[in-house]
Amino acid sequence: MKSWKDDPRAETNPLFNDNRLKLGLFGLNGIGISMTSVPEAPNARWPESVATSRIADEAGFEANVPYARWRGFIEEQPGHRSGLAMDCYTWAAATTQVTSRSGVFTTSHVPTVHPLVAAKQCATIDLISGGRFGLNVVAGWNKPELDMFGAAMRDHHDRYDQAAEWIDILRRLWTEDEAFDFDGAYYSIKRGISLPKPMQKPFPPIMNAGGSERGRHFAAKYADMAFVIVKSEDPEQIRAEVDLYRRTAREDYGRDLQVWTFAYVVQGETEQEARDYLHYYAVEHGDDRALDGWMELQGMHTQLMPKNVMEDLRFRFKAGNGGFELVGTADRIAERLKLLSSAGIDGVLLGWVGFEDGIRRFVDRTLPLLVQDGLRRMPA
Ligand SMILES: Cc1cc2nc3c(=O)[nH]c(=O)nc-3n(C[C@H](O)[C@H](O)[C@H](O)COP(=O)(O)O)c2cc1C
Repeated sequence: MKSWKDDPRAETNPLFNDNRLKLGLFGLNGIGISMTSVPEAPNARWPESVATSRIADEAGFEANVPYARWRGFIEEQPGHRSGLAMDCYTWAAATTQVTSRSGVFTTSHVPTVHPLVAAKQCATIDLISGGRFGLNVVAGWNKPELDMFGAAMRDHHDRYDQAAEWIDILRRLWTEDEAFDFDGAYYSIKRGISLPKPMQKPFPPIMNAGGSERGRHFAAKYADMAFVIVKSEDPEQIRAEVDLYRRTAREDYGRDLQVWTFAYVVQGETEQEARDYLHYYAVEHGDDRALDGWMELQGMHTQLMPKNVMEDLRFRFKAGNGGFELVGTADRIAERLKLLSSAGIDGVLLGWVGFEDGIRRFVDRTLPLLVQDGLRRMPA
């Protein structure tokens, strides 16, 4: 079986480098990863996105992943800031021009973007970036968002069938030189062809963030990276969660799969300082209305996790979109990242309430500890 460690795309894309624990950014195109009303929270501002992307790039972060969002989570307040998110494709193209080494992703919904458009846009961004592009494909789960397009919110199983057709078409458009017909249940394409082809061969890396069993099989079959929520704090259970993804990829599809997760970071000089800040933004100024809207929509339309598990993670969803908790001193944060790595996680996307200040602290104090522990190398 081919290992991603020997992947030819390693020549241009750091996602395939040999750092044991890869790092990235998540949610820089929008309001970040917290539901809070504090003024320092991101508001989809380009200058902040540029400044943070550049710091991550210089520090050797491997990935920069935006989220795909067309609408906020409070139905009776359509203008609520939870809907603030720059378009992922154009954001990614521009981000490649203010960075020089990190991988840059777009996150694309299946039902809102035709595969011919996606294939050409992805190939274009891959060329613009010099082969550093990646595609995070999501099946779409937020019904009011899809309603705006008049796009059908398919039942869970069909959603992933449609995503499979979408990816099949993309892969053919990226690799085939002859025009082809495609007659599927969701797409009908006459003499389809797309030029130029992407720079990365056979095509750019694909990430998927499905949480259900169907989502896991989809990631195992089609993706290079599964992007998962770590639900447990127990290292053994985390390892079991990660192994399940890898085993599904190996045993059912003969493939190797990187497993990534994401985490929210609050780094303080002391544990107390970090905890106080978490309390300030997530408890005193937490946006409970957005959280309630999100929880309700997720419960109705996804199979991300059982309802009781989701309720248990409620605070985590508010504080950091359900990400793993990295709160405390640099030492504690490095220890927690080590725990994820030893449980088999290949990469962690990070987010802060104040991205720029947060990543500076992280790069100054936490990153050297990870290098010291052999989890990563300093960039050349
Ligand atoms: C880490 C992570 C990131 C995600 N990013 C997005 C996103 O940007 N846009 C979106 O519509 N859905 C996003 N999702 C939702 C997933 O695509 C998926 O619908 C959800 O995890 C539920 O899983 P299921 O579809 O397998 O039931 C994300 C999920 C996770 C776990």
